[in-house]
Parts: sequence; C-alpha cells; structure tokens
Amino acid sequence: MRAIPTDRGTCPFDPPAGMADEPLSKVRLSNGDQVWLVTRHDLVRQVLGDTRFSSEIDGGFLDVPLHAVQPQPGMFIQMDPPEHTRLRRLLTGRFTVQRMQRLRPRIEQIVTERLDALERAPRPADLVAEFALPIPSLVICELLGVPYAERASFQEAGARLLTLTGTQEELEEAMMRLGGYLAELIARKRAEPGEGLLDDLLDSGLSDEELVGMSILLLIAGHETTANMISLGTLLLLQHPDQLALVRQSPEAARTAVDELLRYLSIVDVGMFRRASTDLELDGQIIREGEFVTCSLAAANRDPALLDRPEELEVSRPKAPHVAFGFGPHQCLGQNLARLEMEIAYPALFRRLPDLRLAVPLEKVPFKSDMAIYGVHRLEVEW
Ligand code: HEM
Repeated sequence: MRAIPTDRGTCPFDPPAGMADEPLSKVRLSNGDQVWLVTRHDLVRQVLGDTRFSSEIDGGFLDVPLHAVQPQPGMFIQMDPPEHTRLRRLLTGRFTVQRMQRLRPRIEQIVTERLDALERAPRPADLVAEFALPIPSLVICELLGVPYAERASFQEAGARLLTLTGTQEELEEAMMRLGGYLAELIARKRAEPGEGLLDDLLDSGLSDEELVGMSILLLIAGHETTANMISLGTLLLLQHPDQLALVRQSPEAARTAVDELLRYLSIVDVGMFRRASTDLELDGQIIREGEFVTCSLAAANRDPALLDRPEELEVSRPKAPHVAFGFGPHQCLGQNLARLEMEIAYPALFRRLPDLRLAVPLEKVPFKSDMAIYGVHRLEVEW
C-alpha cells in the first residue's frame, strides 16, 4: 500500500505529486494508520455531504492534529447532527454575507493600518508577520470580543495545534493552554460582559465548557486559514504577473479572483477526516464501519470534470463549485468573512506597493509542509 502523498517538490502551489493518481484508494499515514483517500470531485462531495461519514473521531488519531487530542465540548467541527446542528445554528446568522458586509469599513481600516505598519518595517519585511496574519487575527478578535493585545495567550498555542510534527503531549498541552485562556476570558465576560459574539453567546444556553470549545474553534479557524491564503495568494500572484495585472484592474476583478485563488491553492487539503459509521458504498467499493476516510480538497479542485484547464490559474474565470471550503453540513462557516478579507487585502496591497516583489529566491521560501493548513511561514518582500 502506498503512503499518502506529501511531496510538493515539483511545484509548491500544486497538490502533492501523485495525489490524484486514483479516485479512491487505501493509503498509509506516517504513523502507519490506514485510511481511504478520496480525490475525485464528485466523490469528495459525496463523502462530505453524507453524515454517515461521521466527523466524530476520538482522540489518539495522530498525524491529524485536531484528532490527536480528545474532542472538546462545543467544537462542532468534530460533531454529527443533531448536536452539530444545535451548535452551528447559534452562529449561522452571524456569518451571512450581509452581516459580513457590515464589517467592510472596519476591515478596510485594519488593512490600511497594516499597510502603514508594513511600510514602516525594515526591509526586507516579512509579509506574514506584518500583514497577512494580523489582518484576520484583528478581525476575528474584534468579532468574537477577544482582546488582540492578549494574542500571546492564544496565537502560538493555536498554531501549535495545527502542526503535523508535534507529539500528542505537545498538542494536548497547547489545547489545555488555549482552553485555559478562553475559560478565564469567559469568566471575565460573565463578570463584566463586553461587545462581541462570545459576549452575545453568554445567555444562549451553552455551558461554559461548550462556549470555551466553540471559542477555540472560531479563534483557530479564523486565524491561520485566511492568513495563509493572503500570504500564499500574494506569492502566487507575484509568480503570475499577467494574472496579477488582472487582479489590479478593478474591485470586481479582485472579487472574482478570490475564488480562483482558493480553488487553485486549496490550503486545507487532507486534514479533515471522516469515520464510516456503518458499512457504506462509495464508487462501487465497500467502506467498512469504523474505517477512516480523508478527502484531498486540492486534488478535487483540480479535477478536469470540475472545470476546463484545471492546472491553469485563471483569475477571471467564472467561479467553479470548488470545495476549498469543504462541502455539506460542515462547509466553512467563516467563508463569507474569509472572502471579504481577501478581496479587500489583495488589491489594497498591490495598489499601495506597486513594485512589491519577493526578496529571496522562491526555493528559499519556507512553505508550511509541516502544518495541517498549507501556506508559508515567512514571506520576505521588497518594494
Ligand atoms: C480562506 C480561509 C478558510 C478556509 C480555506 C477554510 C476552510 C474550511 C474547511 C475546508 C472547512 C470544513 C471542515 C470539515 O468539513 O471538516 C471549514 C470549516 C469551518 N471553518 Fe473555515 N476556512 C477558512 C476561513 C474561516 C474563517 C475566517 C472562519 C471564522 C470563523 C472559519 C470558521 C470555520 C468553522 C467554524 C468551521 C466548522 C464548520 C462546521 O463544522 O460546521 N473558517 N473551513
């Protein structure tokens, strides 16, 4: 049995070599566990759309960061209906396109402030530290009512939970640290409620444990994902000047580009696991109860059945029904927020710094092959 492909040596923006070799096959993880790997777009949607492929996975499943530690109450990404529905429903109205549009002026202001900071930074500057990470971090903190000034208490622990190389003890310790900080924050809020989503949830009938788990999920999901898209998307566009020129053309062009960048880069790939809750048939194959399944969103998003010329980055093409945000009941809750942040950040960056360029050769860029969510650790830029 072959190992799950992980080598992005040929091109850092493509799915690991060999990922799409078979639509459905059994592969080996680095810890020896065997899982089914699904790579065809229609099959990926079939798995993610069917909750009999359960998201409830007990801890101890190493190689998969969030599955290595025991699931926390309130972390509905690891739950099935009806519990998943009960918890997610409390939040869906808060993340609609309309609700997110109300944040536009504030996000624009944050982006402007970060550009000011970037311009003041010594050169070459790290685009991740100065721009790509602070934007989603500031936005999610304000939205939730988590003090950004206390980020030392959650940013590092959150990132640690997404490393593929940590030991079980390290992951559990990071989860405890994050949970401890948020439990303490929620106690502070109970004593003196402020403004934010977490404050609004104080009287929603959730237990404090559920509120902590939900906060961990929202804080992690709102940080690393969009930050990686902003930095990796910038790098990709710098490698494709013709496509970058299109993004610069107009706000509409930048908006259209966002979904193509999401599809092309698919920063969340094989990190999301499902467990067959009963014997299930997929593409003529029986998946036995208890077996694990993982979907390559990156491979599915390059499926020739999804769109023409899937290997090409074409930022002006119509939006394809890609699965970069997943599919089905667990499809990304924050996708409208992520899109808005990106559609504001990319054009503002390229407008302010028209000569933006990479300060090191592409081979020297530290890609996040060691993380559950792909991106770059640092991006040294000049202008
Ligand atoms: C470009 C940025 C982002 C990408 C690529 C992304 C991707 C994903 C994917 C693939 C899933 C599905 C997981 C699964 O099926 O197991 C997911 C779920 C989720 N995402 Fe995002 N995400 C992004 C940004 C955000 C942001 C900004 C938030 C902020 C709140 C967020 C919150 C969530 C939550 C709460 C879930 C769990 C939904 C559920 O289980 O019902 N995400 N995301």
